[in-house]
Parts: sequence; structure tokens; C-alpha cells
Amino acid sequence: MHPSSAPLPPTLVVIPTYDEREALPGTLARLRAAVPEAHVLVVDDSSPDGTGEWADEVAARDEAVHVLHRAGKEGLGPAYLAGFAWGLERGYAQLVEMDADASHRPEQLPGLLEAVRRGADLAIGSRWIPGGAVHDWPLRRRVLSRGANVYVQALMGLGVADATAGFRVFRAELLQRLVDGDIASHGYCFQVDMTRRARDLGAVIVEVPIDFDERTEGASKMSSDIVREALVKVTLWGLARRAQGLRKALR
Ligand code: GDD
Ligand code: MN
Repeated sequence: MHPSSAPLPPTLVVIPTYDEREALPGTLARLRAAVPEAHVLVVDDSSPDGTGEWADEVAARDEAVHVLHRAGKEGLGPAYLAGFAWGLERGYAQLVEMDADASHRPEQLPGLLEAVRRGADLAIGSRWIPGGAVHDWPLRRRVLSRGANVYVQALMGLGVADATAGFRVFRAELLQRLVDGDIASHGYCFQVDMTRRARDLGAVIVEVPIDFDERTEGASKMSSDIVREALVKVTLWGLARRAQGLRKALR
């Protein structure tokens, strides 16, 4: 895809961080170089390793960079919701989700932005469509991600190959309607929750193939609690969807 040369609508990249002092500097430098017009909001949950303070120093010398400090670690979902509220209040036209650990290549963000420019309400950087790939992930993480997506599709039929993906662009109008919906997901199932809500609203969802690189710095925050929450919620959402279908059929 050839990203257009049209000026970029006001864009905010929201990066949630917890103990990413090692990984964030490289990611941020690459992002500022790849899409210099985009503003950045780091949402830090009071990382003990000083990520938030480091981001403050960057923000003091780069006016495109902002930092939102939160009192404690509450999970990916609440961090994103706080970041989205900050950005929607300030009138950004599109908001981006991206991990701090450079697993999402900032150089591939223009491809996602282009999909929105061409009409998508939600562009998802997908690992599991042709052209997408995961590099250097241990077999266990591959199986978990693939398995999660097969389970999501079987239960919920969202028609999205990578419903747990964390590299996304939302058009502000869609995001506003999504966050008005009272989202209670804490862990990585937040991504599935946003996808299902976008689907229910009839949003145009486009998957763009990406390369996902295993982080080289710091550690994943994936935990058994996160897996458990996802399993329970996806199962409940899937059952609710079926009950709804059944009710319609019986009417
Ligand atoms: N503020 C905040 N609070 N940030 C958090 C928290 C939290 O409680 N938990 C995780 N993060 C941040 C991390 O610092 C990182 O920037 C990003 O969220 C992703 O966390 P990782 O721990 O690197 O996730 P992963 O590599 O294991 O998981 C990837 O795959 C998941 C499943 O497909 C990510 O792409 C996830 O977004 C994705 O859902
Ligand atoms: Mn990661």
C-alpha cells in the first residue's frame, strides 16, 4: 500500500506503559521518525522502574509528546480508556493503539492510517492474515494467540482474524461511541471487547497485515489472570450472542 501524501488528520498515538523504561525510548524514537505529525500520549501506571519520569523528560523537550500518570497498575483496558478520554476531549480525529515494546513496528503505522483514510472506521494491524507474521515468538505464545482467535471466531463469529491485536487506528467518531458503552474489560480481552462493540455498531473494520516482533527489552505483562479473564468473558459474550440469535429466530 502506498500511503498518500495528503496531510494527516490530527492523530494521537496512545501507548500504555508498565515498566517499559528499557523498551520505550527506542519505540518512541522510531515512532517520531516514522510519523512525525502524530502526537503521542504515554499512559503510565506509576511504573516502579521510572518509565513515567523518563517520559516526562521527553515531553518537556518535545511538544508532540504527552504523559498521563495513573495511580497504579489497573490493566491495559483502563489505561487505554483514560488515554482515549484525554485524546477525545482534545479533538483528535483518529486515535492509535500501540504497544511500548516495539512489537508493533512504527514504520507500519502509515499503512494502518491509510486504511482509515480510505474509509475504515477501525484499522487492525493483523498478524493472522496473509502477509502478516509473528517473528521470534515462542511456540507457546503463538499457540495462545492463534487458539484465542479461533475460540473468539467460533463463539462470536466476528469475522476478524486477529481480534486480540493491539496495533489499531480508530476514527474518533467510532471511538467516542465505543467508550460511551461502559467497558469493563481489564486485560488483553479489552481488544476483543472493542472489536465486538465496533462490529455491533456496524463499523467498517479493515485488517492490515503487520509484522509483530517479539520484544527484545523488558518483559511481557501477560499473566494467567489475563488469560482467565479473557476465557470467561469471551465465553459469556459468545453465549449472549447465541441467545440473542435464538431469540430473534423464535420471534
Ligand atoms: N498502563 C499500563 N497498565 N500498561 C500496561 C498494562 C497495565 O496494567 N499491562 C500492559 N501494559 C502495556 C505494556 O507496557 C505494553 O506497552 C503493552 O501494554 C502490551 O503489553 P505486553 O506485556 O508487551 O503484551 P504482550 O506482548 O504480552 O501481548 C501482545 O499480545 C496481546 C495478545 O495478542 C500485545 O500486542 C497485546 O496488545 C495483545 O492483546
Ligand atoms: Mn509485548
